[in-house]
Amino acid sequence: MKLSVFCLLVALVCQRAFADWVRQPFWYDDARRDKVAKGTVWPQPRSIQTTQQSLSLNPDSFSFSTSDDASSNANCKDVLDPAIERYRDLLFWIPAGERVSVSGDRVLGGLRVTISGGTCSEYPTLDSDESYTLEVPASGDATLRAQTAWGALRGLETFSQLVYEVDGKHKLNVTTISDEPRFRHRGVMLDTARHFLNVPYIKQNLDAIAYNKMNVFHWHIVDDQSFPFQSATYPDLSGKGAYTQDNVYTRQDVLDVIEYARMRGIRVIPEFDSPGHMQSWGQGYPELLTSCSPTNVQADIYHLGPANVARNSTYDFMQNLFTEIRDIFADDYLHLGGDEVHFQCWMSNAEIQDFMRQQGFPNTTQGFAQLEGYYIKRLLDIVEGLSVAPKRSRGIVWQEIFDNNILSGDFTVDLDTIIHVWQWNNSNFQGIPYWDELPLVTGAGYQAILSSCWYLNFISYGRDWPEYYACDPHNFTGTPQQKQLVIGGEAPLWAEWVDATNHVARMWPRASAVAERLWSPQSVTDSAAASPRMEEQRCRMVRRGIRAQPQGPSYCKYEWNLAGQAGNYVPTASGARGITGYAQQLLLSLFSCLVLTFGLS
Ligand SMILES: *[C@@H]1O[C@H](CO)[C@@H](O)[C@H](O)[C@H]1NC(C)=O
Ligand SMILES: *[C@@H]1O[C@H](CO)[C@@H](O)[C@H](O)[C@H]1NC(C)=O
Ligand SMILES: *[C@@H]1O[C@H](CO)[C@@H](O)[C@H](O)[C@H]1NC(C)=O
Ligand SMILES: *[C@@H]1O[C@H](CO)[C@@H](O)[C@H](O)[C@H]1NC(C)=O
Ligand SMILES: *[C@@H]1O[C@H](CO)[C@@H](O)[C@H](O)[C@H]1NC(C)=O
Repeated sequence: MKLSVFCLLVALVCQRAFADWVRQPFWYDDARRDKVAKGTVWPQPRSIQTTQQSLSLNPDSFSFSTSDDASSNANCKDVLDPAIERYRDLLFWIPAGERVSVSGDRVLGGLRVTISGGTCSEYPTLDSDESYTLEVPASGDATLRAQTAWGALRGLETFSQLVYEVDGKHKLNVTTISDEPRFRHRGVMLDTARHFLNVPYIKQNLDAIAYNKMNVFHWHIVDDQSFPFQSATYPDLSGKGAYTQDNVYTRQDVLDVIEYARMRGIRVIPEFDSPGHMQSWGQGYPELLTSCSPTNVQADIYHLGPANVARNSTYDFMQNLFTEIRDIFADDYLHLGGDEVHFQCWMSNAEIQDFMRQQGFPNTTQGFAQLEGYYIKRLLDIVEGLSVAPKRSRGIVWQEIFDNNILSGDFTVDLDTIIHVWQWNNSNFQGIPYWDELPLVTGAGYQAILSSCWYLNFISYGRDWPEYYACDPHNFTGTPQQKQLVIGGEAPLWAEWVDATNHVARMWPRASAVAERLWSPQSVTDSAAASPRMEEQRCRMVRRGIRAQPQGPSYCKYEWNLAGQAGNYVPTASGARGITGYAQQLLLSLFSCLVLTFGLS
């Protein structure tokens, strides 16, 4: 018996060691194999015909030109000219000392950009046309045609991605592309309340957003923990609610971010979440919030609960604050939050109870749902009242507002409001799966954006982007009209465990998977086929200065900060052990079995 236990242990140890030994070379091969594609586009265009015929680019003579339409319309020119300067830099990355002359090659001389009709808006909107066509012919200049400057930006990004490096030359292949996004709203969400992110980091993210053809930066700017937005109307919001007075966004900072985003065709949608998630507001303006009684009703958070929705002064405050917000943020939409309101605190407060009796709301969950609906309705009215014709000011709310509508049987929320679906049902959260929520939301006639399956703050071992890639906003049962009402999605990165040290790496290239899902045709679903393109997109971002994290063993030609490192470790193992490795492991397993059987008998 002792012998058998001994044999068992030996077998287990050997098995483990051999398995590791055998596996190692596979990892090694996998990492070495040239798995990075060259000159592929991310996200995959709607239609692309590429050929084997390659052209060279001459960095010294390559020229961009714009059509009269594009250069005469001030709005078009305003966005297009700086974009061309940016892409001129992004296009040629081979260091001058390593460049090889292209004389004698077939050379592409330039790119001509045309914006048909020259109809450009100052700001991108939900309805902006982002389509473009790109023609790289065997001879003559390449042409990029778009309806708007926003479409031209997407086309410039594509053009820059077609270029690859071979033996010291910038090359691209003869290609024809006709492209447009599948969804209109394609965003990432950054949370600057749990940790403050300074403006340069936000801008770096905006660059990455543009490299992935996303068009929304949802700025979850304030929350329970801090209020970094500096308001002129209510200075104590950040004066007392920010972590420190260094951790604030001045009006100028915010305008700077909006302008940087506009130049890249990105909408900035700020979120001022209420009536929950408002602890930081209460630091400077405690009368805004409900006093919970007893004070331990919300054991996890102080003694103040959600907004005191019974007081008219609360609505006056919102009216004034949102007037200032409306004045700063250019987008038609403001995100009004509305998630995770804990009813117990309201239930415990006599003023709220009195108000509910007056309004005829019962002292039940349903009654509190009605109460929250009442608040949001008044807030939406305030926001809509701030519309400056011809633009309309509208709200986006988290799904609880819609769910409460159902619960209270009281459809107070305007149909123009977009419902942001975020809940899911898994080990992290027991909620309604998105494929059950979207039919309800769209069935009631609301537009929806999806985030449930794209919470980038949840991390695990290994590469997770194929999971994000698999999730589809149309994965629910509904009529074509209902599918139409799903206008896109967002990848949120909640920042409890994320700050400037890690947020770019955690977001990219994981959010790139979401970017492709939201841009490319529904039929583009094979993550294995997408993998070499994903590798190229990651290396491209790294080369452009974005710390996009790796997706398994690999290398990029232009590694992050390679020059600053003390030489590269080169493994000494060489050659594949492939089939021999398998055979050895098989023999070892047989041997283990024999020992085991022999030992036990
Ligand atoms: C470009 O053409 C080369 C041959 O010149 C070919 O090896 C490569 O696969 C092509 N790349 C793309 C993206 O079509
Ligand atoms: C609060 O405002 C509402 C709506 O404007 C109004 O009907 C109500 O009379 C006001 N209540 C008080 C106490 O001023
Ligand atoms: C409301 O209901 C809760 C329990 O559901 C109860 O504890 C509380 O006393 C009620 N409040 C009023 C004012 O009826
Ligand atoms: C969520 O999952 C749990 C466990 O699998 C299940 O019991 C529950 O019914 C699910 N909830 C919804 C709303 O689907
Ligand atoms: C699609 O929806 C079904 C439920 O209808 C669900 O079981 C499946 O997991 C969903 N697929 C993805 C990739 O989310």
